[in-house]
Amino acid sequence: MKKISVIYWSGTGNTELMAKAVAEGAKSNETEVSLISAGNAKIEDVSGSYSVAFGCPSMGAEELDSDEMEPFIAAVEKKIKGKNIILFG
Ligand SMILES: Cc1cc2nc3c(=O)[nH]c(=O)nc-3n(C[C@H](O)[C@H](O)[C@H](O)COP(=O)(O)O)c2cc1C
Repeated sequence: MKKISVIYWSGTGNTELMAKAVAEGAKSNETEVSLISAGNAKIEDVSGSYSVAFGCPSMGAEELDSDEMEPFIAAVEKKIKGKNIILFG
């Protein structure tokens, strides 16, 4: 089974709806899909996954959410080499 993590931040629910749709679309007989909000995401959710989808709306001035998503991306950016990465927002 290929592990796929869908990690998202959402303030008012739009990105959460997208994340649920991405997770639903990634489900198959060969995948194990986890839907995780950025506040609950762990580095292992990225390092242990075959593929990771990251979702976040534009906040600030075209920036990632600065409280949870941006620090998480900074923490995992060196662990994503060679993985299939999907970005949405
Ligand atoms: C504080 C704040 C800052 C925002 N900054 C931007 C921005 O820089 N660019 C943009 O296109 N939209 C911006 N938006 C709009 C959000 O990206 C948009 O409402 C999005 O759908 C929110 O997603 P969510 O429901 O998952 O939180 C901002 C919204 C808020 C509340």
